Amino acid sequence: MENNKRSSFTGKLGFVLAAAGSAVGLGNIWRFPYLAAKYGGGIFLLVYLILAVTFGFALMTAEIALGRKTKLSAIGAFKALNNKFAFLGYLAALVPIIILPYYSVIGGWVTKYLVTFISGNGLNAASNGFFDAFISSTGEPIGWFLLYLGLTALVVLFGVEKGIEKVSKIMMPILIALSLFIAVYSIFMPGAIDGVLYYITPDFRKFSITTVLAAMGQLFYSMSLAMGIMITYGSYMKKKVNLESSVGQIEIFDTGIAFIAGLMVVPAAYAFSGGDPAELGKGPGLMFDVLPKIFDNMYGGQIIGTLFFILVLFAALTSSISLMETVVSIFCDKLKMGRKTACLAVFILSVALGLPSALGYGVLDGIKIIGFPFLDFFDFISNSIIMPIVAFLTCIFIGYIIKPKAIIDEVELSSKFRRKKLFVIVIKYIAPICIVAILISSVLDAFEIMKI
Ligand code: PFF
Repeated sequence: MENNKRSSFTGKLGFVLAAAGSAVGLGNIWRFPYLAAKYGGGIFLLVYLILAVTFGFALMTAEIALGRKTKLSAIGAFKALNNKFAFLGYLAALVPIIILPYYSVIGGWVTKYLVTFISGNGLNAASNGFFDAFISSTGEPIGWFLLYLGLTALVVLFGVEKGIEKVSKIMMPILIALSLFIAVYSIFMPGAIDGVLYYITPDFRKFSITTVLAAMGQLFYSMSLAMGIMITYGSYMKKKVNLESSVGQIEIFDTGIAFIAGLMVVPAAYAFSGGDPAELGKGPGLMFDVLPKIFDNMYGGQIIGTLFFILVLFAALTSSISLMETVVSIFCDKLKMGRKTACLAVFILSVALGLPSALGYGVLDGIKIIGFPFLDFFDFISNSIIMPIVAFLTCIFIGYIIKPKAIIDEVELSSKFRRKKLFVIVIKYIAPICIVAILISSVLDAFEIMKI
């Protein structure tokens, strides 16, 4: 990637859509609602929104500007600005390597649901225990995982980037419209109104450091931050494109879709469980348990369900393609591999890392790493440990090594930097202190889980 023939996005729209395509994925539709349901509803939403307009804004601006300034992807960018920080690029690059395999396991779940709906059995998926029976089996989760990963690899191999961009422009608006429709339906289900209140009214008694930890991990994940992706994207951005307003638009896109997905899932989950905390805190399975039940209740649910899972699959694919593309380009650059060999190597590595996640709720149920099933462990280690470390060091790097002015100058190449003061305060003081606090608490949390 680090060569002279660097391609670039045609304009602002191209850049914002491509970045939003990477950002909007399973994180928004699958992960955000279950975290919101688990960590107290409204209070989680509020903490998330505050973090998005402060931390999210500052870090995304910093990463995109770093990329645009150096015209290099993460590994090269840190090195070019300070040799001693080259390791930070490698650390960031480790994140997509960890995420891609388990992301593909969940992508496999989505594929399974889509095929179930297409084959006319969608309403079976609404029965209690369907999801648990599926993920605790052996052959099926593996098969769907391999299919999904294979699909991702195929696209990356052929590099149909243009096609994907074009399709994104059509699919993304449809996804939003359909989600809104399902959200409205979900809100008006009997018993759902309490769920809506649970989701939008902050209950400060439910506030804890874990809420902030979970919200921050989700923010990094959802906005594809602290893993080098936005640095790479920034390196493709033209100097005349307004950087600050692009960041604002990506944030609105990403947070908006997460919010709507929460409206789809949380009120319905509340209605079906009567607000039982054990059900609401169910975790990764929430979306898969709840949505089929909504479709089951809905006139034309079979068709709407099919359409919905097509779009989720699409949102997931655009994200996993960008994850795999990043890993492949690292392998090409650093291990001097050809593109085909690199694709194959990344595929094999991801199968090896993904298999334990695919089996973690079934035959490997007995094996836990520091108290977590495999999939949850990979999610935890990347989101709660490595990404905060990368984010912390990035803040130190910008705040104290290259100094915020380097980033401000880059932003001001294209426009006035309106939130300049906020940026400097967050990067230099607030973010590093909060991230360290959060990191400590998440390590303590892990010890807590281990004891059980
Ligand atoms: N941001 C994506 C999501 O919310 O699903 C996940 C992701 C995609 C992370 C691509 C990283 C990435 F490069």
